[in-house]
Amino acid sequence: MSFLDTLFGKKKEGSVLGVDIGSSSLKVVQLRKEKGQAILETYGELSLGPYGDGEIGQATNLPAEQITASLKDLLREAKATTTSCGVSIPFARALLTLVSLPYRADPKEQKTVIELEARKYIPVPMSEVQLDWFIVPPAEQAQFGAESAPNAAREGKADVLLVAVHNDVLTTLQSVVSGAGLAATFYEIEIFSTIRAVVDEPIKPVMVIDIGAASTKMYVIERGIVALSHSISTGSQDITRAIAISGNVSIAAAEELKKKEGLGDGGALGSPELVFSRIFSEVRRVLMQYETAHKKSITSIIFTGGGGITKELGAYAKRIFSIDVHVADPFKKTEAPAFMRPVLEEIGPEFAVAVGLALRKLDEV
Ligand SMILES: Nc1ncnc2c1ncn2[C@@H]1O[C@H](COP(=O)(O)OP(=O)(O)OP(=O)(O)O)[C@@H](O)[C@H]1O
Ligand SMILES: [Mg+2]
Repeated sequence: MSFLDTLFGKKKEGSVLGVDIGSSSLKVVQLRKEKGQAILETYGELSLGPYGDGEIGQATNLPAEQITASLKDLLREAKATTTSCGVSIPFARALLTLVSLPYRADPKEQKTVIELEARKYIPVPMSEVQLDWFIVPPAEQAQFGAESAPNAAREGKADVLLVAVHNDVLTTLQSVVSGAGLAATFYEIEIFSTIRAVVDEPIKPVMVIDIGAASTKMYVIERGIVALSHSISTGSQDITRAIAISGNVSIAAAEELKKKEGLGDGGALGSPELVFSRIFSEVRRVLMQYETAHKKSITSIIFTGGGGITKELGAYAKRIFSIDVHVADPFKKTEAPAFMRPVLEEIGPEFAVAVGLALRKLDEV
């Protein structure tokens, strides 16, 4: 780095990485800030399956050293030029609970109250977890339906979203990150990264559905706050498996077929539809649970995750739910050459977490 580079603004220090460690693949997105815009510098994905004994698109359970090795490979392939990053924590490894706790005007006192009360809700010793929380602002609390919303400050109560992550989870992630030569300034539960990348609706409740390989996560977001979160262990890998069985083909061939046909005509022997109907019946249950408790409707659904790329998913879901359905386009929040747009739009759902992490990291620069 020469003095002139710095003088003429060619320096690369402004670049940041979002690193998403998913069960089936790693995703990285590198952004740089220029005139207040997030410029997309590079991105990349690497399937973890082949690092174990698995296939592309299938979830893995690899030891930390192997994830480290694959992350190094991905950074090299994607030609990442910075080590400065934010990293995702899987939703499955975190505990989120919305609770009503005594309200204190003084933030220090509030912290003490939360730390004391959290013991009742978190089933492991507090010394074993990292605890975080979000206090639902009283204005938002007043918006909640009668049941869920204690009369907030008036009754001396505050709605608080408690978030706990086991120390072991963080220790493993830290070893992967430092092993790959990266420097992380934060670890964020994927749900919050996703919201940053794909939710723009400021007031009305929306549902985000992240269809990963091993699981489908569904979140109801209201005024930017997580009002409900739920996960089921059915994901896009189950579609591949169903196609493999019904068509008597290999997992690799079934994966290709799934990507080629999706829910379109022919629909890979009807298997995608069968798995989606399982996912959607759970989505419907969660939607109704929220709508009944809060006495308001969810106005739209946003799909993310690799399963969100499934062909014809938007049209199919629209027919089933008859509400607004969008497939997420997180790269929309970044600046990229016009010729890349069609590709970015297509792969976008899978990169929602990585984009969200990079956007947060960019705020630190
Ligand atoms: N074009 C496509 N059509 C259908 N499915 C796809 C497509 N591209 C990727 N997938 C599927 O998406 C899944 C991977 O999604 P994603 O990368 O979001 O999962 P992950 O983050 O690794 O998993 P998880 O979130 O469960 O930990 C795989 O099962 C893959 O087969
Ligand atoms: Mg994922």
